[in-house]
Order: sequence, then C-alpha cells, then structure tokens
Amino acid sequence: MKSSGPELRKFVAPEVVFGVGSLHLAGQYARNLGGSTALVVSDPGVVAAGWAQQVLSSVERAGLQSALYTHVTPNPRIDDATAGAAVYAEEGCDIVVAVGGGSAIDCAKCIGLLSANRGDLRDLVGVDNVGAPMPPTICIPTTAGTSADLSQFATIVDGEIKRKLLIVSKAVVPDLSLIDPATLTTMDAFLTACTGLDALVHALEAYVSLGRSPLTDVHALEAMRLISSNLLQSIAEPDNLEYRANMMLGSLEAGLAFSNASLGATHAMAHSIGGLLDLPHGQCNAMLLNGVIDFNFGHAEQRYRNAAIAMGLEVGGLASTEIRKRLVAEIARLRGAAGLGDTLSHAGVHRTEVRELAEIALHDPCVVTNPRRPGQRDIEVIYEESL
Ligand SMILES: [Fe+2]
Repeated sequence: MKSSGPELRKFVAPEVVFGVGSLHLAGQYARNLGGSTALVVSDPGVVAAGWAQQVLSSVERAGLQSALYTHVTPNPRIDDATAGAAVYAEEGCDIVVAVGGGSAIDCAKCIGLLSANRGDLRDLVGVDNVGAPMPPTICIPTTAGTSADLSQFATIVDGEIKRKLLIVSKAVVPDLSLIDPATLTTMDAFLTACTGLDALVHALEAYVSLGRSPLTDVHALEAMRLISSNLLQSIAEPDNLEYRANMMLGSLEAGLAFSNASLGATHAMAHSIGGLLDLPHGQCNAMLLNGVIDFNFGHAEQRYRNAAIAMGLEVGGLASTEIRKRLVAEIARLRGAAGLGDTLSHAGVHRTEVRELAEIALHDPCVVTNPRRPGQRDIEVIYEESL
C-alpha cells in the first residue's frame, strides 16, 4: 500500500499543574510518587527569593525528609551534577524536586541521570542514549523561558573541553511540572528579557523545524502570540500577575512545541557560545535569531509569514521580502526594548572566536532539524553578521 499520510510523529509531555499556588503541591505529589527523602535542587538566587524554602516546607509538611542542594552555576557543569549526585546518595534520597530556572532543572535532571546510570554523563550525550530513567522528578520552574521542566532535553557543560553537551531522550522528561506564575515576580528585568526571548526562539525554531507536526504547530503559534504581546509588559510591571501568567503560559506552549519538534541553528549556535564563553543562553539566542531567519527564510516562507501574523504583524498582501524585513525588525524591536542590546560583541563574543564557535555548532543535534542545512561557512557568516 502506498503511504500518503503525514510522517510519524510522537508527542511527549509530563503531567502539568498550572496556576498560582501550584508550588505548594510539591510535597503532596512527592509523596504520591512514592518518595520518602527528596533532594531539592535550587540555586542561590531562588533560595534568596524564598521559593526554595516554600518547596522545602511543602515537602516536610507531607512527611518526607529533605536535603537542599544549591551548587548550580548559570550554565551548569558536569561537576555540579556529580557533586549533587553524591549528596543524593549520602542522604538516601529517592526523589528529585527542582525549583529554579533552566540551570537548576538541567542540573537536577543530570543528578537524576547520574543516580540511575553509573558512570559518566558524557556516555549519555546525543539522542536516545539514556539507559535507565531518572528517579521520580518534580520540576517547579521560576523563569518563563527554558522549559527544561517539560522537555526531552538536558544540557550540561563539560568544563574540560568547554562544550555544552545535549542529552536528548524521553527519559529526561520529568514526571510532573508545577508551573506557578507567582514565582516570576522575583525575576529582574534582565532575566525576564533573556528567558522570554529564549522562549520566543523556542516557538519560532519549533515552528519551522523539520521535526514539526500539527501537534507542535498549534503550541508554537500560541506561544508566539502570548510572548510577543506580554514580554515588554511583564518587564515594565514585574508584579502584574496577568502579564506574568501569560508569559508562563507562552513559555509552557513553546516548551511543548520544541520538546517534540526540536530546534534549529539558533540554538545550535547559542549552545556553542554557552559552552565556550559561558554567556547567558537567552541573550545569545536573541542576538542570533535574525541572522538565522535571514538564512532560512527562502526555505520556510509560508511558515515565517504565519509566525509574523501570530506576533501581531500586518502582512496581508506583502511580498515575502517585505515580510522578512518586518519580522526581523519586530524581533530587533523586542530585543532592544527588553534591554538586551543589539550584537553578540555587546554580549562579549569576539571575531577571533567565530571559527571555533562555528565548528562546535555544526555538530550540535539542533542543526539537524533546521529547515536549511548550513555548512561551516554559513554558520561563520551568521556569527559575523551578528557581532
Ligand atoms: Fe533555549
């Protein structure tokens, strides 16, 4: 029989509880998942904001023991996860609860992987290379951006070779994500901007990805709409829960899309910078996105037209070239108004680093689903034009 239907696609997501106060369900769910001692993974900023203590209190109220681990660097390293796994073992933990941004959640996932898979995280790198699943894992995101709480991705930096490693597997999808928009109110403007732009890039890259499907498209488009119409407002009014909830929902939708459709060249290139130069992930993505859109545009014109419409741009009757110009201008406007600057050199990248950055990016798994396959020189040109 001749097949004429769509290609096979799957859609994986954790259980999600969305809403103000969901954070306080951490203990109840940890108990329901069979936990007796929880390793709560967080970072010093989230501890200072009080969210980690609220999670610890919830866990303790539910009758579980707990240990707190906070040695998590912004681009978390293998050493951070290894030390966390030692604490997990010493304290007799049997469940992981992550409360924080992508750094804490990625580190928590890697702690779980190390606890279940003896040996080296480097052996798990790539697509579908994980043997044993993580222990029960609950995530409580405190940024609206990375969606590590939903995704099939875990990223960790190998400090010895300065590379950001990607572990892509259904085995790193958490059991549960408690998404509480109130946690966003303690983010500063820079973190709001970086994570919000990251989420917008997730949606755009998932929407044009070669791994996309109707199931991911609907989430990607809604994410673009929510993020583009709430990002600047949530920076201007950090305590406004309506804007924060819309950003959290946008991030959730973008996460569902990219976790299942994968990403593209923007992320491949941002990962490379994150590993080599230790710069903020969202900021790198924001600087690279327009160069990648220019490179991809002719291979996904209708998709970018739909994206522009989802972001509220008037494109009716316009030629493709004009739509491309309006889309990149809008992204530049959002980026500038969010205070992220214009260029990679502004963020700390130098021309002398471009060749090595491109060599690393070319081997990132996210390149595979970019709608146009780039070569070494293509990547170098995008970096150079983004400097
Ligand atoms: Fe990202």
